[in-house]
Amino acid sequence: MENEILMSEKKEASPEFSLPFGGRESVRVFAPATVANVVCGFDVLGFAVEAPGDEVIMRLTDKPGITISKITGDDGRLPLNPEKNTVSVSVQHYLNSIGRPDIGFDIELHKKMPIGSGLGSSSASTVAGLFAAKTLLGDESDAAKLLPFAMKGEEMACGHGHADNVAPALMGGFVLIRSYEPLDVIRLPHPKELYCAIVFPDVDVPTREARQIIRNKVLLKDAVTQWGNIAGLVSGLYTNDIDLMGRSMQDVLIEPVRAMLIPDFYKLREIAMENGAVSFGISGSGPSVFSFTRDEQTAHTITRKIQQHLDKIKIDSQAFVSPINDAGPRVLE
Ligand code: HSE
Repeated sequence: MENEILMSEKKEASPEFSLPFGGRESVRVFAPATVANVVCGFDVLGFAVEAPGDEVIMRLTDKPGITISKITGDDGRLPLNPEKNTVSVSVQHYLNSIGRPDIGFDIELHKKMPIGSGLGSSSASTVAGLFAAKTLLGDESDAAKLLPFAMKGEEMACGHGHADNVAPALMGGFVLIRSYEPLDVIRLPHPKELYCAIVFPDVDVPTREARQIIRNKVLLKDAVTQWGNIAGLVSGLYTNDIDLMGRSMQDVLIEPVRAMLIPDFYKLREIAMENGAVSFGISGSGPSVFSFTRDEQTAHTITRKIQQHLDKIKIDSQAFVSPINDAGPRVLE
């Protein structure tokens, strides 16, 4: 099937790169934020948005190994030590896998989205770094082959190598992780008119902790509801049936637990649904929340009304309105 990609982490034969690799000494790359889970698809569904996202500037250096010369927009929260930073660690795994640990890169990371927001912040940085390295090396193979290296970054960032942020950040669009072992990742179609309204309430919810509070065992009746919803959402995506998507986007497993981490979560849902949302739920592990809408104007109305409510309860917030980003990472000229 054309849109089906099977990947494994096995070492590939080293491609024949020759200096000056991709014809450039440096490159600036943008990689997008992502909404993981998409309400009912915990760890298996995600999509990319146009904005926000992160930028990486990468330069080839003469010495083997990776340095990080600058990080901006992180309030000093991210490590400059290349052994502790998810971007450099993922890129080093990539270099090792192609048999080129002799290559040296210097990285500048410019965070242009909130950290710990549930919008795939670490994934956006890691994917920007991997895509920059791939571009500098002139490696023209499919970006999706970088997925196992990006997942190493996720593992380091939050203790678990889930792919529902990194896969859409790398491949763009709407993505299903059909299986983790072996890795089997599928691009899904989506209605073109869909808009996404995101609000990030400025409270800290680290993914590592948001994963620790989830129950490990589920009731069979809840599992039945959940897999019916996932199948309904995927059917709606294939058939452009936005109503079916909306009624399928219900989560009986994870949301009832994580909702407590988000200020006035159920009130925010009421506001979104009263103002024309197709769906409402937590983005990734939160605290960001998101709605699908059928048009851009409704998405703006929803973010405005949700932010007004958050203002009232004295929670700062940021809002983003975006269509689904089918392109994924891109070189910024
Ligand atoms: N699927 C992951 C989780 C996404 O919900 O923990 C984290 O952004």
